[in-house]
Amino acid sequence: ASESSIDTSDMSTDEEQEETMVDDEDVKNELETIAAKSEKGMTGEKENELEDKEKIEKSKTEQKDKEDKENSKPAVNIPVNRDKDIQEARLKLPILAEEQMVMETINDSQVTIVCGETGSGKTTQVPQFLYEAGYAHGEGIIGVTEPRRVAAISMSHRVGKEMNLTTSEVSYQIRYEGNVTPKTKIKFMTDGVLLKEVQKDFLLTKYSVIIIDEAHERSVYTDILIGLLSRIVPLRHKKGSPLKLIIMSATLRVEDFTDNARLFRVTPPVVKVDSRQFPVTIHFNKRTPLDNTYLNEAYKKVCKIHRKLPEGGILVFVTGQQEVNTLCRKLRQTFPATQGGKKEEDIIPGKKKNKRTESPEKKNLPKISLDNYSVEPTDEEEEREGGSDSEAEFDETSDGSDDDNILGEDGGCSDPMFVLPLYSMLSSDRQAKVFAPPPNGYRLCVVATNVAETSLTIPNVKYVVDTGKVKTKFYDKVTGVSTFRITWTSSASANQRAGRAGRTGPGHCYRLYSSAVFTHDFEKFSPAEITRRPVDDLVLQMKDMNIDKVMNFPYPTPPDWEQIKAAERLLVSLGALTAPVSRPKSRYKSKEVPSQITPLGRAMAHFPVSPRYSKMLSLGHQHDLLPYVVAMVAALSVAEVFVELHQPPDESGEKDEFKKRLQHFKQIQKMWAGNGHSLLLGDLTVLLKAVGSCEYQGCTPEFCQKHGIRFKAMKEVRKLRVQLTNSVNTVIPGANLCVDPKLDPPNDLQSKLLRQIILAGLGDHVARKYPDPPPGADDEAKKLKYAYQCAELEEPLFIHPSSVLYRQNPQLLVYQRIEETSRLYMKGLVAMEAEWLPIFCPSHCTFSKPLDDPAPEFDETKGEVMCHMTSTFSRCTWGLPAIEME
Ligand code: CDP
Ligand code: MG
Repeated sequence: ASESSIDTSDMSTDEEQEETMVDDEDVKNELETIAAKSEKGMTGEKENELEDKEKIEKSKTEQKDKEDKENSKPAVNIPVNRDKDIQEARLKLPILAEEQMVMETINDSQVTIVCGETGSGKTTQVPQFLYEAGYAHGEGIIGVTEPRRVAAISMSHRVGKEMNLTTSEVSYQIRYEGNVTPKTKIKFMTDGVLLKEVQKDFLLTKYSVIIIDEAHERSVYTDILIGLLSRIVPLRHKKGSPLKLIIMSATLRVEDFTDNARLFRVTPPVVKVDSRQFPVTIHFNKRTPLDNTYLNEAYKKVCKIHRKLPEGGILVFVTGQQEVNTLCRKLRQTFPATQGGKKEEDIIPGKKKNKRTESPEKKNLPKISLDNYSVEPTDEEEEREGGSDSEAEFDETSDGSDDDNILGEDGGCSDPMFVLPLYSMLSSDRQAKVFAPPPNGYRLCVVATNVAETSLTIPNVKYVVDTGKVKTKFYDKVTGVSTFRITWTSSASANQRAGRAGRTGPGHCYRLYSSAVFTHDFEKFSPAEITRRPVDDLVLQMKDMNIDKVMNFPYPTPPDWEQIKAAERLLVSLGALTAPVSRPKSRYKSKEVPSQITPLGRAMAHFPVSPRYSKMLSLGHQHDLLPYVVAMVAALSVAEVFVELHQPPDESGEKDEFKKRLQHFKQIQKMWAGNGHSLLLGDLTVLLKAVGSCEYQGCTPEFCQKHGIRFKAMKEVRKLRVQLTNSVNTVIPGANLCVDPKLDPPNDLQSKLLRQIILAGLGDHVARKYPDPPPGADDEAKKLKYAYQCAELEEPLFIHPSSVLYRQNPQLLVYQRIEETSRLYMKGLVAMEAEWLPIFCPSHCTFSKPLDDPAPEFDETKGEVMCHMTSTFSRCTWGLPAIEME
């Protein structure tokens, strides 16, 4: 490599990696048969014949299943020593009544589906049933996957506590941490963790049972795991060490798993657990409030419930963390806990008596025990996070809703309310607070995102206030442009929300929208995540598992062909896959030889980050760059390191936001790297500086608050750095990185090389400034003044005001992502030099002269020499001089 620029040759791969490949012939054969089979099915060839064959196979398998029943049933009965009160509480759970049914079905089938309302006891009890039946006392242990980290941690604690077992026996494993030991019998983990394990040990030999929990959420990893397990389970069966699969869902919508010929050969039995649900009265608004007033409507509804209605917890569903914090603050102001305006958490329980007149219903309510309530120190971190959010506007005079018959005029009540936030980014300590009873005399009000919909059950909720809204990230399947849109949720999820009010007694659900909107505008179910996001990471993982025909994988719901093609194109351009080769159609061979994973691709698949970032890591082995690349990739992989100031930005907000941020950034720069100019080169270098300066100061909450950094994000960056450092040390021979969080600032050369590495990872995300409009140009042309153009999109792009490059407007840059709000905004920018492009992302350039390496191809139709296969960048050259390459 030359001294002044980065060597683009990919890191060498060591022999060891080859060992991690799946070399099990059975597996390969099996996957090939699957591929062949589903291909036939897809093209509609010989469908009937296939069906008949399948029927025969089905009955054969059923027969075999029956024969195997006796073998697969563990004979033991493991005693569990539960506390008396735990045992009593358990017996009240609906699933306990079904224990025999559940266990018989599991013993008799390879795959079982368990459906039951949230709170019926699926997550906490089914692992215990299995444990008692001896499933953790033979060859393997019990594995449970959760889509969310918080659920994995909290459920392992809960189950351990119920069974009087230690954390070394009932353990958890999430992305960065865990407490699994050789003694572990029940292991809760995120679905991503289990997917990584499949890559290392395809047959999951450690486990005797896998429970896929919350399958109704249809998270990408859950879907992929179910697809993989549909093949792993029969293979384990064939090998004589059966693996049971249990899919648990909170809704009855399981057709994607049952009526799906791609998945299971034998339709799995479904065990339904009756919910012991009290009636919930649904109150629709007569009119639906305007789009931007729902938060205010929710606020007013909570106030009215609190003032007019008898005791009982309130649960409010809003769309995001910021809304949760805003509404909590507003409610705390309206119903202050003490005269001094302290937060409720600071109050000693029982200090204040409830003055509200007793209602007839009150006597029936369970007594709230204070045993497990203790005064905790204020959560600094949470306070800061909440405090720095921008205050959403509350217009208390606007009235978009109708008064419900039961809710009258303001009674002027100022009884205290115990307001708690709940969202997935909240620390688990803070989340746990919602499970404890509120202090005596206080009404509990939990303001939550849809995490409270199914995975967590809040006790004693009597009133649900449902805005009907949900915030979802939408991706353009091909370009990956993401938008956060607030939309109506699905009717299935609205019903889940309503159900939360009927857990401990009859309840009420106030829907802040009309029944007409519910009937006509709500989708029935929320779509599977895999159909809504780019799949480059998945395609790479599958190729690493030697699943070549990615399209033929047994997905519960398949992604679009275009999504997969876009992913393959990206992976080819990153060098992780070979380009697919087209062959002439013949009778025996398929049209296209699928792309193969390269050694670089295998190395990239080891890193637990998106393929673009793995590519950056794989180039970082030169000039002592790895510690910086690791820190930067970690920061890039953690969402929103900086506190959001304005979202979405508007014309007036833009300038303020930019000024405020620039101040922060200048301070960060000074503290860590002196007064150089490199600040102006991009957001990703600022990100690195934030990590560097923060760790230099010992990463304190004070430092983060002062500089607009989210402390929690920084802590996560640190954990991810440790994890990435370990992966780098395994994958890159002789890397020998140390895990010290302190970093010295990079020198000028290193700073430049880092930008080149960024370009190598984000080569398809290059944007060029439009030429400045000439003086006297019309309005249409003036609109393009600070606009950029990129390869994938026709529309002009703009620099997001949170970017350090907002005022710089460099000629050429790369962006981390595009988000659509009022405009198409680019975020996470780094300025680039034009002459780097042909070197670091040749596959995106068109060249006027042939390149020596890699071998250029002559395009006869265009009469020019093209480098590699794509020419996407040539579209960027529209109206601008083309990039000349000698
Ligand atoms: O999985 P599913 O929604 O069917 O129910 P679960 O999570 O097993 O919860 C069963 C019961 O245990 C619920 O009534 C919860 O309120 C209770 N539980 C609890 O008290 N504390 C926990 N940390 C978890 C569950
Ligand atoms: Mg559950």
